[in-house]
Amino acid sequence: MENILKADQLSYRYTDTYCIKDFSISFNKGEKVSIIGPNGSGKSTILRLLTRLLKSETGTVLLEGEKMNQMKEKEIAKKLAMLPQVNNHKLDLTVRDLVTHGRNPYLKWFEEPNAEHQTHIDWALAVTNLTKFQHRPLLALSGGERQRAWIAMAIAQTPQILILDEPTSYLDISHQIEVMELLEDLNRSLGMTIIMVLHDLNQAARYSARLIAMKNGKVVRQGTPSDVFDSDFFREVFAIEATVHLDGDKPIYTPIGLVQRKQKKIGEM
Ligand SMILES: Nc1ncnc2c1ncn2[C@@H]1O[C@H](COP(=O)(O)OP(=O)(O)O)[C@@H](O)[C@H]1O
Ligand SMILES: [Mg+2]
Repeated sequence: MENILKADQLSYRYTDTYCIKDFSISFNKGEKVSIIGPNGSGKSTILRLLTRLLKSETGTVLLEGEKMNQMKEKEIAKKLAMLPQVNNHKLDLTVRDLVTHGRNPYLKWFEEPNAEHQTHIDWALAVTNLTKFQHRPLLALSGGERQRAWIAMAIAQTPQILILDEPTSYLDISHQIEVMELLEDLNRSLGMTIIMVLHDLNQAARYSARLIAMKNGKVVRQGTPSDVFDSDFFREVFAIEATVHLDGDKPIYTPIGLVQRKQKKIGEM
């Protein structure tokens, strides 16, 4: 299968120690993939490197076979949209104004979006079920609606690849499922490649064809959810004891407790 996005030998450090070193990863066209791993394992950093929000010290990122560091920002944004981890800015914009920003890659400076652009904006609002809220400021939306507005902006870019960093954190469970089903629909009906970091591991297994597990800046396991989920995996990657069972073809884990470490209990101190 064709790689739509391929990164080779990436390295990155925020301070003097590398948090990502010699990191390679690739994604097929039309895939739905989740990256999972403990806090600080480098998931957000990888997404930023894949979208050129951060510049790798080494290696290459190929977007549809083209070297990303030689592409113009707008050319990248026509193909790839990224939703960062926290979106607590631009709260005074209306939903429609936010979604209109999704058309920026197609517009010249000062160019107003024409009827064709408005069609894409209307479509993004409709798909995310926000048409009725389009003239409200983001401030006046619930967390779930606000997250859908950001997704609407991203898909108004009409990207082939949508990258999302923990899109369901801070949402209640029904809004989490709403976002997951929206992404599933974009993947199924449009063939959009979806790459996301998910915090909820059972949700990652339920809604992804492939899981990529990271620890300490490295991929430690990848494969179908049932390839990845077993007790050893939870012990090694998350330092917990867990049982795994299947619900249809999807694995579900239940945490039991922390892996016993050689550590004094509070009563023994
Ligand atoms: N802006 C930053 N400055 C310094 N260190 C950072 C910064 N962002 C992330 N890090 C460090 O890089 C490592 C990877 O972080 P991150 O990619 O955010 O992990 P994750 O998304 O998996 O929680 C962590 O050790 C984190 O502390
Ligand atoms: Mg993160």
